[in-house]
Amino acid sequence: MSELIIAPSLLSANSSNFAEAIISLRNLGCKWLHYDIMDGHFVPNLSFGPQVVKDLSSYGLYNDVHLMITDPVKYASKFIQAGADNITIHYEAIKDPILVQQQIRSMSKKPISVGLSIKPRTRIEDILDYVNYFDVILIMSVEPGFSGQEFLPNALYKIEVLRKYIDKHHLSTLIEVDGGINDTNIQQVKQKGADVVVSGKYLMTNDHPDQAIKYMLEC
Ligand code: DX5
Ligand code: ZN
Repeated sequence: MSELIIAPSLLSANSSNFAEAIISLRNLGCKWLHYDIMDGHFVPNLSFGPQVVKDLSSYGLYNDVHLMITDPVKYASKFIQAGADNITIHYEAIKDPILVQQQIRSMSKKPISVGLSIKPRTRIEDILDYVNYFDVILIMSVEPGFSGQEFLPNALYKIEVLRKYIDKHHLSTLIEVDGGINDTNIQQVKQKGADVVVSGKYLMTNDHPDQAIKYMLEC
C-alpha cells in the first residue's frame, strides 16, 4: 500500500499567515492542501471563495477543494479556473452524481480529479454504485461546517466497507477522511484503509507539526 497522504486544512490556519503556513507545510513534506468552501446554506458557516484558491494555488501543492455548497455545478468552474486539482462535491447537494461528475469534468481543459463526499448520516451503501465514476470518495467524520470537532467513529465502518468495495472491483478511487483526525484515531483510520487524511486542528495548531506529521505517517 502506498504512503498515507496528509491534506492539511486551511480552515484551521490563521488567514493572515496562509502563505507562511503553506510554505512551512510544504517544507515538512506535505503534498496536498485542503480548502473547505462553505456557502452558509449547505453548512452553517462561511469560509473562502475562488480568489483564495487562486492566490494560494501557485505554491506547488495539490489543491484539494471541498465544496460544502448547495449548488456545486454553478461554482465548480470558478474553482477550476482558480487552480483546483481536485473538486469534491457533496452527495447530499446533488440529484445525479454521474451527470454532475461529467459536467464538472467538461468544465476543465485538462483532466481534473472529481470527488464525492458523504456527511456522517449518509450511508456508505447509498453511494457504492457511484464509486467507479469518482477519483476520490471523501468520508466526513464530523458534521461539515467547522474544524476542531470530535471524530465520529461511524466513519470507520464506512472506510472499511469502501476499502473492500474498491479492492474487490480493482478501482483506483482514493478514500479521503475528513474531520476530527488526531493521534488518538489516526491509527484506526489508516488500518481501515484510508489513502488521504485531512488534518485541521491537530496539525495546524500543533506546537510540533513535524512530529505530528511523522506520527501520522509512521503509526
Ligand atoms: C469540516 C471540514 C474539515 C475541517 C477539518 O467541515 O470539512 O476539513 O477543516 O478540521 P479538523 O481536523 O479540525 O476536524
Ligand atoms: Zn473538508
